[in-house]
Amino acid sequence: MSDVEALRSEPALTGAATHLECTLCGSRYPSEELSTVSPCCSRPLYARYDLERIRSVLSPADLVHRSADLWRYAELLPVRDPAHAIRLGEGWTPLLDTPRLADALGVSRVWVKDEGQNPTASFKARGLCMAVSRAHELDASAVALPSAGNAGGAAAAYAAAAGIEAHVVVPRDTPPPILEEIRGLGADLELLDGLITDCGARVAEGVRAEGWFDLSTLKEPYRVEGKKTMGYEVAEQLGWRLPDAIVYPTGGGTGLVGMWKAFDEMERLGWIGSRRPKMFAVQAVGCAPIVRAWEKGQEFAEPWEGANTYAAGIRVPRAIGDFLILRAIRESGGAAATVTDDEMVDWTKRVGALTGLFCAPEGAATAAVVPHLLRSGALSPGDEVVLFNTGSGLKYVR
Ligand SMILES: Cc1ncc(COP(=O)(O)O)c(C=O)c1O
Repeated sequence: MSDVEALRSEPALTGAATHLECTLCGSRYPSEELSTVSPCCSRPLYARYDLERIRSVLSPADLVHRSADLWRYAELLPVRDPAHAIRLGEGWTPLLDTPRLADALGVSRVWVKDEGQNPTASFKARGLCMAVSRAHELDASAVALPSAGNAGGAAAAYAAAAGIEAHVVVPRDTPPPILEEIRGLGADLELLDGLITDCGARVAEGVRAEGWFDLSTLKEPYRVEGKKTMGYEVAEQLGWRLPDAIVYPTGGGTGLVGMWKAFDEMERLGWIGSRRPKMFAVQAVGCAPIVRAWEKGQEFAEPWEGANTYAAGIRVPRAIGDFLILRAIRESGGAAATVTDDEMVDWTKRVGALTGLFCAPEGAATAAVVPHLLRSGALSPGDEVVLFNTGSGLKYVR
């Protein structure tokens, strides 16, 4: 079978990844071995694809009859062999038009991308599905990660489905339903007094001592590939156009930078034009390293001391992809802004009553920040906005 025929086969999981690239200096590395950060700069590696070749064989019309999950974009994903794609129904979540929420927020249109409908009830399924599938394909037998909670649940699920060991380290005050989920999925769970950064140090020990493969976000190259599919889906669900603005609750920022990467790929594929949405990162007042760096005009973000918010997923004091998040926000003409925990509690109820969606606090933050963005002029009343509800509120019930 020629390469072109292989790409045409349905769904074509042969992939067209060519190499990995350092996001800071552009150095190239092979993509056929287990990789972590770039050896040159210790920064995230991005998977690169032969987009010219994909462009010549794949068009949006070809996607129409494909599976209703993220594997519909198989050529643009790193897994080579269909047998290694671990599938639990991830992706292709609804993009819900929510006119009453739009009225309440004072913008012309609001869609909520409801990521709570993923396996393990959060968008973390996308990234961990891809990272575990590819790690399994490259012969990893034990994976590990520090997590604010949801990523741990997703890693446990995909490792269980792959039949490999998962070691998950989370802060002790992680919401109980998430702890039960991780245990129920058969992972080895360790609770630590501290933050996700402390959990990261514990995982690094296990990597050295036990040979675990580290799935920390953006420290391996494929979680971002799973999360970029949110960008493909928003474009496809809107008929291959993009909204005026995207609001994303930002911890490690993997979804935000993943969507930004997806938009570039889609433009090079000829699927969209050069217009981009304004990208807005929302963080909690008690943990806002990206907002502070954005306000100071810095390229990198200093770690946040004493991080504190009940929205566990955005209680991330340091992001290894900080410069990528800040670059996407700036290039898009967006902004970074904070909300309080009280605002998240309030907007969880308001979004629920106006839409029928029981949001995670991180999802509620994307609605809560809209009035601030309107007041500062970063958003206009005429804007059409996509809010990301990154998880289900049920995972936070105490
Ligand atoms: C529900 C939820 N929203 C948002 C985030 C932050 O995601 P990211 O690391 O892509 O910024 C997390 C991370 O744990 C999360 O669990």
